Amino acid sequence: MNIVLICMGFRYSDLLRNIRPSEIRQLSKYAASKDVISFSGGMPNPLTFPIADMEKIMDDVLEESGDIALQYGNTGGLDALKSEIKRLVKETENINVDEQDIIVTSGSQQGLYELGKILVNPGEPIITEEPTYVGAISAFDANLVDFHSVDMDEEGMRTDQTEDVVKKLVAEGRSPKFIYVIPTFQNPTGITMNEDRRKHILEIASRYDIPVIEDNPYGELRFSGRRMPTLKSLDQEDRVIYLGTFSKIMCPGLRIGYTVAPTELISKINLLKQALDLSSSTFSQFVAWQYLKRDIHKKQIPKSIALYRTLKDTMLDALNEYFPEGSSWSKPDGGMFLWATVDPSINTTDMLKEALASGVIYVSGNAFSPAKKQWNSMRLNYTFSDEAAINSGIRKLSELLKKKLSYNEPVSSAGK
Ligand SMILES: Cc1ncc(COP(=O)(O)O)c(C=O)c1O
Repeated sequence: MNIVLICMGFRYSDLLRNIRPSEIRQLSKYAASKDVISFSGGMPNPLTFPIADMEKIMDDVLEESGDIALQYGNTGGLDALKSEIKRLVKETENINVDEQDIIVTSGSQQGLYELGKILVNPGEPIITEEPTYVGAISAFDANLVDFHSVDMDEEGMRTDQTEDVVKKLVAEGRSPKFIYVIPTFQNPTGITMNEDRRKHILEIASRYDIPVIEDNPYGELRFSGRRMPTLKSLDQEDRVIYLGTFSKIMCPGLRIGYTVAPTELISKINLLKQALDLSSSTFSQFVAWQYLKRDIHKKQIPKSIALYRTLKDTMLDALNEYFPEGSSWSKPDGGMFLWATVDPSINTTDMLKEALASGVIYVSGNAFSPAKKQWNSMRLNYTFSDEAAINSGIRKLSELLKKKLSYNEPVSSAGK
C-alpha cells in the first residue's frame, strides 16, 4: 500500500513577513556552548543571582500564600507588588506615581510590544535613537511601524536632529506617534544622555504634543559619574511612559517588568494584555513582591555593580591592548554593554561567521539599526563572561580584525 503524505500549506498573515528572527536569539544557542566566548546576549552574570534568598522567598510564598500564588491573577498585576514598585521608583528615580498608573508586564519586552500595538497604526511614524534596542525594533516591527531613527553621539541622542525630524514629519501631516529612548546606559551603546538633551526631548515632545517612551532597564547599574534624572521625573505633563524591569536587578527568569503611564493608557494596555496572556505569572509576581519588600535588591545591586565594573574595566583594557588602530569604543558609566566601531572596510554582520569559527560572538551593529547604517560596529556585552574569557575573546576578535584588515584596504587609514 502506498501512503501519500499531504502537507498542509499555511497561508501566513502579511504581518508575519515583517517579523524577522533576532540575531541575538539565533546566537543564544552558541552563547550556551562552553567552546564559545559570548559577548552577544544581554545576560546578567549568574553570580549575581540571589539564589539562597530566592529559595527562602519561594518556600515562604508557597507556605503562606500558595493557594493564591499558584492561581490565575489580575491582568493589571498583584496589588502588593504594585505598591512595592511605587516605593522602588520613588526611592531610586524620584518618580511619584499611584498604583493605578502601574501595570505589571511579562518583562518590559511585553510593555514595548503593547505600546507599539495600542499607539501606532501600521505605517505610522515613530522616532528612536540610531542605534536602538533590537528587541524594540522587533516589537515595533511586529506592528509595521515606520521608523525614523536619530543619530547619537557620546552625549546621547542628537536632539537637535530629533527636532528636525519631528518638524519634517509634522509638516507632512504625519506627526510621530511617540519618541522611544533609552537615556541611561543605552542598549546597545552604553551611552548616557546628558541632562540638557533630556530636557530638550521633553520640550520638543511638549511643543508638538508627542508621547515619550522612556525605557530604563539599566539605570540602577551605575559604576561612575553623576546620576541623571529620568525623563519621567522631569515630566510635568504626564507625557512620559516609563518602562522598568526586574531582569537586570533581580533575575530575568521571573519575566517581570512594569509600565508606568497615565491611568487611561494603563486601562488600554490592560485590554490588550487580556488578549495576550491574561496576566503575568502570579507566582513570579509574589516572588518579586517579597524580594522588594525584604529589600534584597539593596544587597544585590551593589554586588552586581562591583562585578560589572571590574568586567567592564577588563574589557576596556583588553580593547586598548589588542584592538586594531582606527577602532573606537564607548566607555560606559554603567549598564551591560559597550559599542565598538571598526574600520569601515569591515562588515561586522559578514564577519560574525568567522568570529564564531574562532570561538567568539558579538551582535553586529546593523541588528540595532533601523537605518541599517551601523555595518562596521558591534555590541559587546561584558557582564556574562569572566575576566579570562573577556581577555581571550577580545584577543581572538582583534586577531580576526587584523587579519581582515591585512587583505582589505583599510578605509580609515586611506583617509576616506
Ligand atoms: C533597552 C531594553 N528594553 C527592554 C528589555 C527587555 O527586558 P525584559 O523583557 O527582560 O524586562 C531589554 C532587555 O535586554 C533592554 O535592554
